[in-house]
Amino acid sequence: MGNRIAIYPGTFDPLTLGHLDILRRAATVCDELIVGVAENTGKNPLFTVEERIKLVQQVIENEVKNDVSANIKVMGFNNLLVEFAHEQGASMIIRGLRAVSDFEYEFQMASANKRLHHSIETLFLMAAEQQHFVASRLVKEVAQYGGEIRSFVPEIVANAIAEKLNA
Ligand code: PNS
Repeated sequence: MGNRIAIYPGTFDPLTLGHLDILRRAATVCDELIVGVAENTGKNPLFTVEERIKLVQQVIENEVKNDVSANIKVMGFNNLLVEFAHEQGASMIIRGLRAVSDFEYEFQMASANKRLHHSIETLFLMAAEQQHFVASRLVKEVAQYGGEIRSFVPEIVANAIAEKLNA
């Protein structure tokens, strides 16, 4: 086994089927995949970072672990992404790209990260066709208005959202 370590970072508030697709595919281009859950309190998340980490772990345990050979772990972080990646010995950051509208933000982030840490590469994976428009923000909005979100997120996440909104 090699030691190509990749970070798949995000806020994951919450993890969607789009994230899950990228996560599965990211696991095929590295030996160890670290899903980095950003605390991102500035975004005023629905779930705490601990809850988001737990949800990602549960989804991986149920839906990914048996299908991939890469070692996957989930960690929270609240420092700069490149610093976190460097601390973990990662050589790649993986991001999913949906529509063209994602490009500008991703281009800016990848360029800044490259300047901050030249040896860490950002790799982009195109979102699966069925998930092109799926975003955590949209899922939360649909759920808040009582809409059906089970085609956008794993079942564990749909249940957690229902519980959170009914609390
Ligand atoms: O899922 P998101 O919200 O699009 O993910 C954004 C994330 C977590 C990748 C970004 O906010 C991030 O990297 N945060 C850590 C702080 C940091 O490094 N910011 C500078 C990026 S150039």
